[in-house]
Amino acid sequence: MKLSLFATLSATAAAAFSASITPASVTPEHVKTVDAAMYKAIANGTLSLADIPSVARRDDLQKRDAGNVYMCTAANWQQYCVYITDAGPGECVNLADDLNNQVSSIGPDPNQDCYLYDDFNCNVLSQRLAPVRAPGYADLSQSIWLGGEGGGIVFNDLMSSYQCFY
Ligand SMILES: *[C@@H]1O[C@H](CO)[C@@H](O)[C@H](O)[C@H]1NC(C)=O
Repeated sequence: MKLSLFATLSATAAAAFSASITPASVTPEHVKTVDAAMYKAIANGTLSLADIPSVARRDDLQKRDAGNVYMCTAANWQQYCVYITDAGPGECVNLADDLNNQVSSIGPDPNQDCYLYDDFNCNVLSQRLAPVRAPGYADLSQSIWLGGEGGGIVFNDLMSSYQCFY
């Protein structure tokens, strides 16, 4: 949660924004791959980031499907990226120190609706961005209009947890 960066809502300025770059098309400098169970243990302090095995790149992975989400700390899939895999349907994943309040691009794999939350534990009372679907958003600093509540949402550097339904 980062109150100072709460989304600026503007119905009139809201512009539809869709990612034109697919996450797999760029190989950022640092990509980590970790399954959701291990990542959650890192987020709650049971394990450390150093425990993530160094599986190199996202392209080398298993078939892309629901339960997997790719996210990076800079727009356009740059800087530091983590591919968190194998979360169950609706399973809430808290972000650890490496991503919390830093995610600027997000790419869920196909066949799922992801809900991003400003608070930990997928607190439905916190600000959220949903539903986010593949290919996701290359730049969360852009106002995103999802057609539902109110105007566009700017969700850059806000996410603390997420869950995907499939
Ligand atoms: C930390 O997270 C892991 C994975 O979800 C879980 O198995 C473990 O019980 C959690 N530990 C604590 C202390 O919350």
